[in-house]
Amino acid sequence: MLFKRKKPVELSTVPAPCNVGIIMDGNGRWAKKRGLPRTAGHVTGAQVFRRIAKYCEKRGVKYLTVYAFSTENWKRPQEEVDSIMNLLREYLRESLADFQKENIRTRFIGDRTKLSEDIQELMAQAEASTAQKTGMVLNIAINYGGQQELTRAARTLAERVKAGTLTPEEIDEQMLKEALYTEDQPPVDLILRPSGEYRLSNFLIWQSAYAEFVFMDDILWPDFSEDDLNAAFAEYWRRNRRFGGV
Ligand code: FPP
Repeated sequence: MLFKRKKPVELSTVPAPCNVGIIMDGNGRWAKKRGLPRTAGHVTGAQVFRRIAKYCEKRGVKYLTVYAFSTENWKRPQEEVDSIMNLLREYLRESLADFQKENIRTRFIGDRTKLSEDIQELMAQAEASTAQKTGMVLNIAINYGGQQELTRAARTLAERVKAGTLTPEEIDEQMLKEALYTEDQPPVDLILRPSGEYRLSNFLIWQSAYAEFVFMDDILWPDFSEDDLNAAFAEYWRRNRRFGGV
């Protein structure tokens, strides 16, 4: 079902779903509309990400996953890739100070071995410095792809079989789920994608098997607001989730 922007009513009291995924799409188009380089869209997109992540925590979201860079995004022009990596670097440095005030546990999902060493080091520091936080878990997906994640999980289990600590018959859904980057986290309830694209784009394939999708046609990520988030939550509660039952 498509989502149309509505006039915000008293939506900030609508309960938040437990586990939310956001595909932060539309940065390039937002910049183009303003005659700016695509990288300007990512700069504003990164600011919106900070604001919305903090707001999600305040609203009671328990798990938030944002799609910052996919395994396919390396195909973009080098200048754009560098710009996103620089924004990530900037965010990581700042988050080590600024985000300490928040009750947010930061984690990174994706293959970080392809990232530059200083970014990997900052990521490890950001994770370690927020590991004891008790509030929302924020998964930042960087060099992440659901297919890569599932392949990695299969390989992890295959290695255990090879080592003789696991038999193929013992492999069940729970074991595969625990071999994903998101390990012990609950399933995703809501996937949000602004910008008018109606696809999952290799994001949280396993985790969103029964997620509700809210595609927000007329909003580009740099324009995304707290009202939009609350409107998406309201739409989520209008859905009748049956999980394959009746
Ligand atoms: C999709 O819009 C956006 C991305 C591929 C990058 C998202 C990155 C950020 C929001 C900033 C960096 C993040 C952090 C965590 C600091 P698009 O470029 O595909 O837009 P388009 O579809 O309009 O071209």
